[in-house]
Amino acid sequence: MFMNLAHRGASAYAPENTLAAFYKGLEQGANGIETDLKISKDGVVLLFHDHELDRTTDGHGRPSSYTWKELQELDAGSWFSSAYAGERLVSFEQFLHYFGRRKVLLALELKDPHIELPVLELIRQFDVQPQTTITSFGYENLQAVRAIDPSIRIGHLIRKIDEEAIARLKEIGAGQICPCTDGLEHKDVQLAKSHGLEVRAWGASTPELMRHALQCGVDGMTINFPDLLSEEICRL
Ligand code: G3P
Ligand code: CA
Repeated sequence: MFMNLAHRGASAYAPENTLAAFYKGLEQGANGIETDLKISKDGVVLLFHDHELDRTTDGHGRPSSYTWKELQELDAGSWFSSAYAGERLVSFEQFLHYFGRRKVLLALELKDPHIELPVLELIRQFDVQPQTTITSFGYENLQAVRAIDPSIRIGHLIRKIDEEAIARLKEIGAGQICPCTDGLEHKDVQLAKSHGLEVRAWGASTPELMRHALQCGVDGMTINFPDLLSEEICRL
């Protein structure tokens, strides 16, 4: 099944990494959710993308400077639209409570160092291994994941597929390679597939780029517009 993964939720339509955005993504036909994981001062894993709170909340500075109790006070929706005023940040535990049992695909991106153990513990606790892929741009994060868990599915976020990237993935038993859509080439996608890797592209911001990635033969995409991707898939 093609992976139509709502990127930070349907983040073109609702404030990213909030429950509203995740529900919207599933309503729009996504069969999975991509989200970003960071850690609070008191060790709570939360869903957050940026280094700092300022762009997407009414807080300031790094999430790691605050306890989860403090972070829960923030408004994570007003920046996007007054219709979402009062939308809250979401902990990873809350996220798994809401979406783990729905059996949707979960593409989890590690955005902090030393976050692997608490993330893997929660994945185990909620029994969501079969639907989960852990991803990161940081190879060290992925090595740490593999050292703790020999079987969880791993994907490496990179800019462009090449032989070296594929070799590094195989070293840690990663099953998925995640290149940028811009600059993606059919031959590179086929090369990765010939090595048994699943190819999941990111960064397709227009229908033209979605079409390009589909024509290259990718197995899935993270997308801010799951509805537009569903339309492009139907047109194929
Ligand atoms: O799907 C991968 C993508 O989420 C990576 O970039 O910055 O959106 O986390 P970013
Ligand atoms: Ca991400």
